[in-house]
This record gives sequence, structure tokens and C-alpha cells, in this order.
Amino acid sequence: MPYSDHGKRGSLLDVALNNDIHLEHACGGSCACTTCHVIVVEGDKNLSEAEDDELDRLDMAAGLTLRSRLGCQAVVKGDVKVEIPSWNRNYISEGGGSTL
Ligand code: FES
Repeated sequence: MPYSDHGKRGSLLDVALNNDIHLEHACGGSCACTTCHVIVVEGDKNLSEAEDDELDRLDMAAGLTLRSRLGCQAVVKGDVKVEIPSWNRNYISEGGGSTL
């Protein structure tokens, strides 16, 4: 899979963009915003551990949950199901799905 140049290689954001699924990423995937906030529904063990900079940034995210991750920082290692929070769906400019 080609790297989309946004977020960590193999991240949820990278995978989404490579599959034509729009996930907002205002800072370009550099862990400097929270627009790529997603909530993990299944498969959290198939994601990389959150690092301190991701956890610090997530503290600023609206609607933070114990299952929240930043799409640009969470690297996919297997099957994962996430939801884009409803407050973030307003940013979605194309596509109708809210589940990756
Ligand atoms: S795109 Fe900005 S933190 Fe992920």
C-alpha cells in the first residue's frame, strides 16, 4: 500500500486515505490537532500503543473516551473497526460512511 504522506505510515489515517475514505486531518497528520479523532469499536489490540504526544493531544479532543485514538498516530496491525465521532462528521466533505 503506498504511503499517503499523512500521519504515521500504516496509520488509520493512512489506510483510510489509501482507500478513498475521508478522515479529516487538519494538521496533515503531525499530531498537532484532534480532527482525526476516532473511537475504536473493535480490535484495539491490533493498533500500536498510544505514545505520550498522542495522549497529550487527545486530552484536548472533544468527547474524549477511553477508546479514543488519533487516526494519524494509531498504526494498524490487524483488523480494526473505528467510528468517526458524530461531532467530527460535520467535517466530512465526501462519502457517507462514518465507520472505517
Ligand atoms: S491529523 Fe492532526 S492530529 Fe491527526
